[in-house]
Amino acid sequence: MGKALDGVRILDFTHVQSGPTCTQLLAWLGADVVKVERAGEGDITRGQLRDIPDVDSLYFTMLNHNKRSITIDAKNPKGKEILEALVKRCDVLVENFAPGALDRMGFTWERVQQLNPRMIVASVKGFGPGPYEDCKVYENVAQCAGGSASTTGFDDGPPLVTGAQIGDSGTGLHLALGIVAALYQRNTTGKGQKVLAAMQDGVLNLCRVKLRDQQRLARTGVMEEYPQYPNGKFGDAVPRAGNASGGGQPGWILKCKGWETDPNAYIYFITQAPVWKDICKVIGREEWLTHPDYATPKARLPHLMEIFGKIEEWTKTKDKFEAMEILNKYDIPCGPILSMKEIAEEPSLRKTGTVVEVDHPKRGKYLTVGNPIKMSDSPSDVSRSPLLGEHTEEVLAELGYTKEQVAELRSAGAI
Ligand code: COA
Repeated sequence: MGKALDGVRILDFTHVQSGPTCTQLLAWLGADVVKVERAGEGDITRGQLRDIPDVDSLYFTMLNHNKRSITIDAKNPKGKEILEALVKRCDVLVENFAPGALDRMGFTWERVQQLNPRMIVASVKGFGPGPYEDCKVYENVAQCAGGSASTTGFDDGPPLVTGAQIGDSGTGLHLALGIVAALYQRNTTGKGQKVLAAMQDGVLNLCRVKLRDQQRLARTGVMEEYPQYPNGKFGDAVPRAGNASGGGQPGWILKCKGWETDPNAYIYFITQAPVWKDICKVIGREEWLTHPDYATPKARLPHLMEIFGKIEEWTKTKDKFEAMEILNKYDIPCGPILSMKEIAEEPSLRKTGTVVEVDHPKRGKYLTVGNPIKMSDSPSDVSRSPLLGEHTEEVLAELGYTKEQVAELRSAGAI
C-alpha cells in the first residue's frame, strides 16, 4: 500500500529532538528523509545518554526511524556542492540549527530560492522575531518561556517543568503540519515558502487554556474551579492549579489501594455533572444528592477539595484498575496513572503499533513509540534508525556520483 507522502523528498538538517521529531513523522507518512550529519560525530544525541558503550543511544534511535543518513561537511566546498545538488532535488529542507547557522553555511533563503524555487525551508527556532530571537533554546527553556512552567505544579511550590516534551516534540509536530500545508499550497502556487515554528509559540499554543484563564482572572479576580477557591488567594497572574482539570469539569488525582508503596497507585477522577448521581451512589454518599452544598455543580465548587477527599476514601479501597472497571460501568470519566513500565508492557498498545519493538544491528531489540497518527490508507511501519553515514554512497549514487568520485570526496574530507 502507498503512503500519504510518497515521492516527497526531505533534506533533513535536524538534530537533537525538535527537528528530528518533525522529520520522523514525515518519514512515517512516507517521505524519503535524508539526514545530513557531520562525519565522525553525527547528531550529538547519538552519543548522549548511552546505555550501551559505542552504540547509538536510545535518545537518537527513537527519534530517527525510517530515515537515511548521509555524512557531509557543509563547510567544505565539495560538501557544499553535494548539498546544492540535494537542494535542487528535494522538496523540503528542515533544520533546527541555532539562529543564523544555516545562513553561515551559505544556505540563505535567497540562495535556496535560486537553486530551487519550489523548495520549502522549514525551521524550528527557540523564539520568533523579538528580544530573544538569537538565543539557543532547549526543551525546558521553552516550557518556561511559553507559559507552561508558571502554570504547572502546586500553589505552594516552585514552577515545574513537565515530562512531556512539549517544547521539542510539540514544536516538531507543529512544524510537520506547517510543512504538509506548504506542500499543499505549492500545488497551486508552484512555489516554496519559509515555515517557522518557534518553541515558545508552540508551547504557548499548547497552554492556550491558561491564557484564557489569565483573561478570566483579570476580569473576575477569581476562578472557581481552581484549588485556590474559595479559601486561597489569587494574585494577578494565573496560579499553579495542582491537578485540577483545565476544563469546566472538576478533576483531581486520588490515591488508590497500595499508594503507600506504589508511587503510581493513583487515579484521575472527574466529577462530571451528568454522572454526579452515579458518583454519589458508587462511593456511598447518596445523601449528597439532595444536600444543598452538593446537589448542583455551582454549589459543589467551594467544596471540591472536601468532595475529592471523600471520593478518595473510596478509591483507597480499590486498586486503580478495579476502580476503573467499576467507574467505567457508569461512564464516570477517570484514568489510571500508568507508569512507563506498565505502558511498555501493555498488549493493546503493541497491537495498535503505538509501542513497537525494533531490531537494530548494534543494539539488538528495543522498544519505541510508533506513529501516533493512524491513517487507513497510509500505514506506518517503523524501521530502525540509520547508522552514521549508512546511506552516504547510496544517496551520492542517486545524485550521479561515481565510485571514484565518492572516494575522492572521502579523501578531501567532504563526506
Ligand atoms: N557540516 C558542517 N558544519 C555543521 C554541520 C555539517 N554537516 N552540521 C552542523 N554544523 C555546524 C553549524 O553550521 C554550526 O556552525 P556555526 O555555529 O559555526 O555556524 C554548528 O555546527 C553548531 O550548530 P548549532 O545549531 O549552533 O548547535 P549547538 O549544539 O551549538 O546548539 C541548539 C544546539 C539545539 C541549542 C541549537 O541548535 C538551537 O538553538 N536550535 C534551535 C532551537 C532548537 O531546535 N532547540 C531544541 C533542540 S531539541
